[in-house]
Amino acid sequence: MQDITKRQEIRLARWAQEVQQSTIQQLLAVATQPGILSFALGLPAAELFPVQAYAQAVEQLLLDHNQALQYGMPELSLKRHIVALMEQRGVRCHENQVFLTMGAQQAMSLLARLLLDLNGTVIVEEIVYSGILQAVEALQPALLTVPTHPESGMDVDAVEALLKGGQRPAFIYAISDGHNPLGISMSLEKRRHLVELARRYHVPILEDDAYGHLYYDDQPIPSMRSLDEEWVFYLGSFSKILAPALRTGWMIVPEHLISALSALKEGSDINTANLSQRSIAAYLDTGHLAGHVQTLRQAYRARRDVMVRAVQTYFPRDVRFSLPRSGMFLWVELPGKPDMEELLRIAIQREQVAFVPGHAFEVQGSCHAAHCMRLNFSNCGLEDIERGIARLGQILPA
Ligand SMILES: Cc1ncc(COP(=O)(O)O)c(C=O)c1O
Repeated sequence: MQDITKRQEIRLARWAQEVQQSTIQQLLAVATQPGILSFALGLPAAELFPVQAYAQAVEQLLLDHNQALQYGMPELSLKRHIVALMEQRGVRCHENQVFLTMGAQQAMSLLARLLLDLNGTVIVEEIVYSGILQAVEALQPALLTVPTHPESGMDVDAVEALLKGGQRPAFIYAISDGHNPLGISMSLEKRRHLVELARRYHVPILEDDAYGHLYYDDQPIPSMRSLDEEWVFYLGSFSKILAPALRTGWMIVPEHLISALSALKEGSDINTANLSQRSIAAYLDTGHLAGHVQTLRQAYRARRDVMVRAVQTYFPRDVRFSLPRSGMFLWVELPGKPDMEELLRIAIQREQVAFVPGHAFEVQGSCHAAHCMRLNFSNCGLEDIERGIARLGQILPA
């Protein structure tokens, strides 16, 4: 009889032999343990989820529509709501340019499959959201990295140099607002410059705007998609403004790409969870979203401010950071060459506080973020933020 406890010799695809969970996924188990004050993950504040209004919308939907649980086409009424939502990002678009996805992550993955050849090239920043690297991984691209500045973001001149030098990547990945992990927003000048390059060299920009609606100034900067509708492919998400468990996001792309994207998506999940789409549309019909996002902005702005003051009070004087204008993250640069893995271990075991070490966002081989930490400010209340930062301050090298 075969010993089923013995590991079978299953041959994995070559690229998959190297695949590992991201540091962030590994931290999820630790950071969500009871008693841990977590500044680690990009979690929205659970106590602010619009539970009642959403529950009512879902109940009504299920009672009124006998097809609500059925397979179906992408929800047109949700696309219409998205068109309206995009106006707040300065974007004028049409339902036919909206493609619904399982979150912004799936949008990245589908666009990678649509645009990127095996062993092709893409441009990313040296310090980047690890999800984009996972999205392109199976296609084993050469990653053309450009420097990224903790205060001003992507070095667009470096992008220009690559393109001028003859590189023609499948796309440029950029986060214009609430950069994950740096927390910065690109200036309007940089956005214009990048868009101009995309047009001139015919290289699309994947504009990841997962945090674009969470801005803390009176006037948000318009998204890059508002500057060009042909070369900027916009990625949006309900994860941060409504709830990540709904796994619903969207892209805005030129209409002629929609049928190819539909074919790719069908092969992976047939259709985005229709119940999520329909229930989000039903919730949006109630008109509650605008007030809800306003509540989130106020709450997160207050949390950001408390975190910044606490860092100024409890961290060594020569740490560096800049004030995030949007999003959920504060990026802190520590002086010297601290051992961040060791710091994290002590932070969790002794102080019960979690953060993400900067190296989790480095493109392989680089050490640009080895002395940095990413702190999330959306997921803890004001007192916990103060307490957690004070505890972290105790273990940082002076
Ligand atoms: C920059 C960025 N893009 C995309 C995502 C994925 O978002 P979604 O939940 O919509 O898949 C995240 C999640 O944290 C993110 O930080």
